[in-house]
Amino acid sequence: MTLSRFPNDFLWGAATAAYQIEGAWNEDGKGESIWDRFSHTPGKIQDGDTGDVACDHYHRQREDVALMRDLGLRAYRFSVSWPRVLPDGVGAVNNAGLDFYDRLVDALLEADIQPFATLYHWDLPQALQDRGGWVARETVPAFANYADMVSRRLGDRVKHWITHNEPWVVAFLGHWTGEHAPGIQNGPWLQVAHHLLLSHGEAVPVLRGNSPGARVGITLNLSPAHPASESETDRAAALRFDGFMNRWFLDPLYGRRYPADMLALYGSLAPTIHEGDLEHIAVPTDFLGVNYYNRTIIRNDPDAPLQIASVTPEGAEFTTMGWEVYPDGLRELLIRLHRDYAPARLYVTENGAAYPDTIAADGGVHDAARVRYLARHFEAAAAAIAAGAPLTGYFVWSLMDNFEWARGYSQRFGIVYVDYPTQRRIPKDSAHFYRSVIAENAVV
Ligand code: FCB
Repeated sequence: MTLSRFPNDFLWGAATAAYQIEGAWNEDGKGESIWDRFSHTPGKIQDGDTGDVACDHYHRQREDVALMRDLGLRAYRFSVSWPRVLPDGVGAVNNAGLDFYDRLVDALLEADIQPFATLYHWDLPQALQDRGGWVARETVPAFANYADMVSRRLGDRVKHWITHNEPWVVAFLGHWTGEHAPGIQNGPWLQVAHHLLLSHGEAVPVLRGNSPGARVGITLNLSPAHPASESETDRAAALRFDGFMNRWFLDPLYGRRYPADMLALYGSLAPTIHEGDLEHIAVPTDFLGVNYYNRTIIRNDPDAPLQIASVTPEGAEFTTMGWEVYPDGLRELLIRLHRDYAPARLYVTENGAAYPDTIAADGGVHDAARVRYLARHFEAAAAAIAAGAPLTGYFVWSLMDNFEWARGYSQRFGIVYVDYPTQRRIPKDSAHFYRSVIAENAVV
């Protein structure tokens, strides 16, 4: 029997994002976001799903915080909807929108749950998209202004801030493959990534100014790149993938500028960088947030972009997203980050799995696969801590089933089941398991 203990003050949490759970897409003065526009465009989302109602969290905030308290969560990571706060992206503040988050933060603190606020989890105000979105450099000061407005109101109580969630996804899926909002294909995605990173750099001092003593960081989606074989070419391809997905973001954030090997490969696709940008991006932070779902196995493919292709491992276990279950990748990743970049602290800001859950005859949701998934990843995290990685908290993705972007409601990631027609919440077996992990501060 394994028993992985965690440090005493380890922060166990769960994560969500505004567009995925709130609903109330056009209520109380909220402006349209690029995800509203995208999901309302036929053909963009599986089954034509939208986030118009989602989990109706906007109207069920109290009930949802009570659920978190029952689970024993020590922390909750949510995101703020920019167009709920600033319907036009800049200009007049919608106070009703800020009030919603104000009440949420108070309810969390009353339940002894630490709020972790993410400022950008992908729902850009459509008004800013109409002016060029993240392709336009003007969106950078707009983001710093938004950070200012939110932290002026919440900064006395929110002491953990995450500027961006997964800039790679925003840039690449939003502006190269077009799979995500705003749905641009073959766009200047590296310019977008640069503006996202720069806006992070500009927001950090703003957040520190309005939120004394706060810890501020950014969340990246990272994936260890394993070569498909020991051949020289496959190893070089895996290194390129690492540059594409991981180092392109980590290197500038930790003061090393964009990786030279990737700049050479990207050629004219490389972003325009103004003097001082790289210094801004490298602003010191208090933590790095890591979203980990899988590793990537890479082989050299002369016909593919960057000559990299991913390989599906045979005999592996997969979630309904088609993602390989590979817990050891989390251990490897956390240790690598500690070794190569030495962030002051690490949080796993997302980890979890989608499975085809159903309500059983006894009324429960028996998600044994998710329990196993979480247990194995917690153990991998404990192994990374034992090896010296400064991991201080862990947020399960997700608190409850929700709108999984291009996949709509087809993917259930929650530890709490959401019966969408009734909006009933049913804690799954994994929620009960997580409650005992938190209570014991150990995987038992
Ligand atoms: C991450 C997102 C999160 C969720 C999970 C499954 O990329 O940050 O919103 O959709 O994937």
